[in-house]
Amino acid sequence: MTNTAPKSIVVIFGATGDLANRKLYPSIYNLYTKGKLSENFAVIGVARRPLENEEFQQNVRNSVSGRFEENREDIEKFSKHFYYLPFNVNDRASYKELKNLAEKLDSTYKTEGNRIFYLAMAPEFFGTIAVNIKAEELTDTEGYTRLVIEKPFGHNLPSAKQLNEKLRHAFSEDEIYRIDHYLGKEMVQNIEVIRFANAIFEPLWNNRYISNIQVTSSEVLGVEDRGGYYEKSGALRDMVQNHMLQMVALLAMEPPIKLNTDEIRSEKIKVLRALRPLEDEDVKKYFVRGQYDAGTLNGKQVPGYREEEKVDPASNTATFVAGKLLIDNFRWAGVPFYIRTGKRMKKKSTKIVVQFKDIPMDLYYKEENEQQNPNLLVINIQPDEGITLYLNAKRPGQNTMTLPVKLDYCNNCIDGINTPEAYEKLIYDCMMGDTTNFAHWDEVALSWRYVDSISKVWENQIATEFPNYPSGSNGPKASDELLAEDGFHWWPVED
Ligand code: BG6
Repeated sequence: MTNTAPKSIVVIFGATGDLANRKLYPSIYNLYTKGKLSENFAVIGVARRPLENEEFQQNVRNSVSGRFEENREDIEKFSKHFYYLPFNVNDRASYKELKNLAEKLDSTYKTEGNRIFYLAMAPEFFGTIAVNIKAEELTDTEGYTRLVIEKPFGHNLPSAKQLNEKLRHAFSEDEIYRIDHYLGKEMVQNIEVIRFANAIFEPLWNNRYISNIQVTSSEVLGVEDRGGYYEKSGALRDMVQNHMLQMVALLAMEPPIKLNTDEIRSEKIKVLRALRPLEDEDVKKYFVRGQYDAGTLNGKQVPGYREEEKVDPASNTATFVAGKLLIDNFRWAGVPFYIRTGKRMKKKSTKIVVQFKDIPMDLYYKEENEQQNPNLLVINIQPDEGITLYLNAKRPGQNTMTLPVKLDYCNNCIDGINTPEAYEKLIYDCMMGDTTNFAHWDEVALSWRYVDSISKVWENQIATEFPNYPSGSNGPKASDELLAEDGFHWWPVED
């Protein structure tokens, strides 16, 4: 155990929910077993339903069991750091009780007054909780106080502003940790390293050598039991406003002058500011929406979106978005960034393809209709983690013909590398006070501004073409046409 292991009380709002059980407890357990967390921590789980401490601790044990090479004794010891408080977010008395418990545990676990408030519950309560935390003086401690907040951060720019104002009531900007779990993914964090630690890429990383960049995040899952939430959000708010735009910002940003939070964020913000604003006509030209129909996935028949639970049978909600983004700055003028994300697609995959421009003159023979393959740099975010560089080499035995070759680096194939879960890294960053991999308010506001100009058009126009892609496909035809118009095509995600 190192001296730098953080000491803190973590209050989790929504402690009986899916996110807490699936992601948060296992991540905290991992930090614990890796020695990244000292014994000086306690977790207070709060939620509506009445539970005894022992029941809660059993839930925590269940959520970490069966996932890791577990050590029963460790799990037992770990779960004893967890306490439960039945809670009504609208009742000030609940916050008083929370304060008392936090003070008590602070002295038991010697957490030096450090408190993290993690909001892992329905977003309509975010503002109320922050205001009550402040009113009941839960932030008046000797140590640090931090707020971790899950998405959605508002529904559009005006509601995000309102929410932000409420949060700022109790927490300053540098105390607010807005989670975008993509920023915790190993290979998303690797984008910067690939770009800025390799002399061979950065000189080519501009409109002179790159013809287009494609960012795809496709999912096999449908909306599952989240129909109620998803009907209001759709793929645009659920994926584009946050994860997709964050990846674009990391790909397009200038090298920061230092690797610190402010410098990195300020470069990302500049990219978002340089996104070409969208007029209504541009939305029609450059953005494609889709909704999944029934279909076959992995040999199984699955229902269409409109047949899912809590979904309007005439729903206008998009489960797929593809778009062409233009970044108006010196580096990127003229280079399209294509994004695409959807549910119930053929394969679960998040992948970035950087397509380089063709060589000026092709000296090598081809079969009829064959073209020289462009050089591609592929960043595999998930499920495989790694990079692939596509080059052309000599076809063996032939002097004048080429053969495409792949140089592959696979991050999670290397024995012994067990890349930590995004949440594990983000929780640790928060405990260490590092906000780099969280979304700053300016990033959130700029992405909402961009996304709002799309949703405004879509919401005012019924999508008569819906459903327009079968489950198990790569999305609607219009998404292929979007690239074909520019003379490009989507590089397959399954390679
Ligand atoms: C979440 C969305 O933010 O990201 C989900 O709300 C989506 O709808 C998920 O399924 C995808 O995350 P990942 O890590 O599986 O790509």
